[in-house]
Amino acid sequence: MTVKLGVNIDHIATIREARKIREPDPVTAALMAELAGCMGITVHLREDKRHIQDRDVRLLRGTVTTKLNLKISPTAEMLQFATNVQPDMVTLVQENHQEITIEGGLNVAAKVDELSKFVTTLKNNDIAVSLFIEPETDQVKAAKKVGADFVEFNTGKYATDCELGSLQEVEREISAIEDMTMLARKYGLRVLAGHGLNYRNVGAIAAIDGIEELNIGHSIVARSVYVGMEKAVKEMLEQIRNAG
Ligand code: PXP
Repeated sequence: MTVKLGVNIDHIATIREARKIREPDPVTAALMAELAGCMGITVHLREDKRHIQDRDVRLLRGTVTTKLNLKISPTAEMLQFATNVQPDMVTLVQENHQEITIEGGLNVAAKVDELSKFVTTLKNNDIAVSLFIEPETDQVKAAKKVGADFVEFNTGKYATDCELGSLQEVEREISAIEDMTMLARKYGLRVLAGHGLNYRNVGAIAAIDGIEELNIGHSIVARSVYVGMEKAVKEMLEQIRNAG
């Protein structure tokens, strides 16, 4: 299975919001990433609106031709926004207010009833639902229970281990993601992965059988500053292809 690349363009908006002006526009970046061959665009509309704004999501809904994946935390306000804008997919994430970036997966196992209602509303609005979770048995089982279509495994620990951990720690995390991918597929869930992936560490995750798509943001946006968005996306696609 060829692993697809979804590009997260949040940090194009981070640069724009540093000045609160109109450039760079994440909508332009999304179109360039699509032209370079990515198969989806992901944005995280945070409650504090620190990067992506409502306006960006609405414009992206009208312009993205691959797949628009909107990440939100499971709040009533975000649910209303999502059903109104109708992205192709919603990914539910755990948001903590003072965090620099997402710190961990959603604890689905602790919120089965609440999340079941949320997932049902989204699915009734023809929006596919993904849950960003840790690669843990309880979370996979709970994702199945609440009726999600997809799970996205958090590769954050793997990415940190690649930089700071031992080889055993890296291997243990790859094994956990492999095992949980198999379990999720057994339950009929489709599998994505992301967070902290870059040009150096993407290979081992892209090579895992059963993972359909990787969501990658910061490393692509960082590289695009030097080489342009088109080249940055193409180089990531090449790394993913070489892993297969
Ligand atoms: N997937 C999810 C659910 C995320 O929250 C993020 C980061 O916003 C990503 C993927 C992409 O992570 P990164 O920017 O580290 O590539």
